[in-house]
Amino acid sequence: MTALKNDRFLRALLKQPVDVTPVWMMRQAGRYLPEYRASRAKAGDFMSLCMNPAFACEVTLQPLERYPLDAAILFSDILTIPDAMGQGLYFETGEGPRFRKVISTVADIEALPIPDPHQDLGYVMDAVSTIRRELNGRVPLIGFSGSPWTLATYMVEGGSSKDFRKIKAMLYDQPEAMHLLLGKLAQAVTAYLNGQIQAGAQAVQIFDTWGGNLSSAAYQTFSLAYMKQIVSGLIREHDGRKVPVILFTKNGGQWLESIAEAGADALGLDWTCDIGEARRRVGAKVALQGNMDPAVLYAKPEAIRAEVARILASYGQGSGHVFNLGHGITPEVDPAHAGAFIEAVHELSAGYHTPA
Ligand code: CP3
Repeated sequence: MTALKNDRFLRALLKQPVDVTPVWMMRQAGRYLPEYRASRAKAGDFMSLCMNPAFACEVTLQPLERYPLDAAILFSDILTIPDAMGQGLYFETGEGPRFRKVISTVADIEALPIPDPHQDLGYVMDAVSTIRRELNGRVPLIGFSGSPWTLATYMVEGGSSKDFRKIKAMLYDQPEAMHLLLGKLAQAVTAYLNGQIQAGAQAVQIFDTWGGNLSSAAYQTFSLAYMKQIVSGLIREHDGRKVPVILFTKNGGQWLESIAEAGADALGLDWTCDIGEARRRVGAKVALQGNMDPAVLYAKPEAIRAEVARILASYGQGSGHVFNLGHGITPEVDPAHAGAFIEAVHELSAGYHTPA
């Protein structure tokens, strides 16, 4: 394998010294980029981009052609797993994800197969190896999956939900059924992420987008416990290098201490918590990733710069911080503003690191 030319993202996740704070953006390949919209039109639709490794590679690299990002993230979706379990994923324009088959009974859950990453999700494994080859060591490649809880919300609700009515009824009425589903998903996610690592992913992130919607007690039992199980089953070193694991629970700020005990290397933070305070709470255990409000990118470059400066000052001196947005970049953002954000992180962070 080619040696990495820029490894500050991996170094920061392991709290090793860096020259400047590394930065990437959740959803960095996406609709705010005209070149992404052109590729999607060429492929036909979103899932065709995901399922064709050449297209997935093309759109993964697009933001890296524009900006000096410190990491690439596999272009795919968290819902590839339920699709491979036979639920029939499709996207209705403007409506988000939908499933042809929805999970509603214990029998439905019992019938779910655990997908084999190579046989059933081979297109993702091929995308990872294609992207690694094309990156040629420029920056590390991040693999990812949804958390069992977050995947289960889509599988039981049949798509995006505002109130999580069906899955919460299941959680409280039939906790054993809920645990059976989450246990199967934890097994599927572990195999899927290990497949991605073997195919070339150099770090992995678990997106727990909806964990923050649970009560404190339910979060521990129905989300964090399963992420912990996954983390303990992951390959943590590959090709002679540590493979860092990032856990991102959106709206999980009040549980940072317990998330930090899950065995991951880093925690993703949304913008509702102060990163300096988060560092004081858990910084001895884990690195932190985040956490600018993505809506700041609607403001002018000077305001973006000021907010980057505030977050860097709040985190303070030294390594262990990967700069990111607190959630995905939105389609309406001006690409020039994303550029101003990335430039500001690199320029303004040098003073927080000691030159070698
Ligand atoms: O970060 C990246 O650039 C990698 C690609 C990526 C996508 N989805 C591409 C995508 C990643 C990491 C995801 C994860 C994902 N997918 C999550 C967890 C992260 C988060 O944002 O909370 C979730 C909940 C999903 C499920 C999903 N996929 C939804 C709800 C939607 C529709 C949302 C929307 O903005 O319309 C998607 C579609 C999707 N996934 C798009 C992209 C670029 C938009 C599809 C399009 O081109 O129309």
